[in-house]
Amino acid sequence: MKDVFEKDHIVRIKDFTRDELTTVFDLAEEMIPIAEGKKKNNDLEGKLLANLFFEPSTRTRLSFEGAMKRMAGRCIGFAEPGTSSAKKGETLADTIRVAAGYADIIVLRHPHEGAAQLAANFSEVPIINAGDGAGRHPTQTLLDLFTIKREMDSISGNHIGIAGDLKYGRTVHSLTNALSMYDTKLTFISPPSLRMPEEIIDELKDKGIHHTEVEEIDEVLEELDILYMTRIQRERFPSEEDYENVARSYHLENDMLRDRDVNEDLTIMHPLPRVDEINADVDMTPHAKYFQQAANGVPVRMALLKLLMEA
Ligand code: NCD
Repeated sequence: MKDVFEKDHIVRIKDFTRDELTTVFDLAEEMIPIAEGKKKNNDLEGKLLANLFFEPSTRTRLSFEGAMKRMAGRCIGFAEPGTSSAKKGETLADTIRVAAGYADIIVLRHPHEGAAQLAANFSEVPIINAGDGAGRHPTQTLLDLFTIKREMDSISGNHIGIAGDLKYGRTVHSLTNALSMYDTKLTFISPPSLRMPEEIIDELKDKGIHHTEVEEIDEVLEELDILYMTRIQRERFPSEEDYENVARSYHLENDMLRDRDVNEDLTIMHPLPRVDEINADVDMTPHAKYFQQAANGVPVRMALLKLLMEA
């Protein structure tokens, strides 16, 4: 296991090879009964994780904490930078150096793109990027890929539509990077002002990955195996007016799925939180997998923590 998993930090999904991804998914599969509380485990007894969250979070922070505790590890940290010394003007580099003296691993969420890399430069212990501004969110991608693998049997071979805020959405940046390691067909669905960044599109071109860009979900809905929806990232817009111009761009309803000849096995995913892009009546359909996707965050993060701590 160690042979295929040698990492100091988890900053970007691109740092993983396909073999390393497979190692995480295989171990995550074994972790499911432990994540569900059906089997005991104490692999991380005596280990301490520091959750440093400079931005709001529900799933990422709680699932890292849950993952740690299901393996008998413990957590320290803060969920609100207002209660940390950042409020007094402490630099991120100093906060990281201090936390690295307290904990065996640091999970960092920060509003600035590049924050996780900066933290990694200063940390004696592994840094896990739990979202850096509009940059990246590699562990979300791990659970997204794990969900695809479980729901569709394989990652390759799927036509995946990625919809919403592709400009500021860090989950879709990391997801696209990862999917380019597999044989998939990608369709990006966004308003023109929220298109996938040029450098990510260029990488797809370099790798010869089939991809198209459209503005409406309707244009491709019937062709998709997976529809990955995302929220418009209100907090990243330069002004409220800019946000209002594209807010409510997408609103998926059960009627749309019924009226269209959608794939029987269409899988709808969302990193959550949703705002208004998926109507609650979609939740009852067999297509909705976003709550299962969120639950998958625990076994996946358990696997990642175990691999990092044992490396
Ligand atoms: C995402 C994030 O923080 O980037 N949330 C998550 O971790 N599941 C998505 C979002 O905030 O829209």
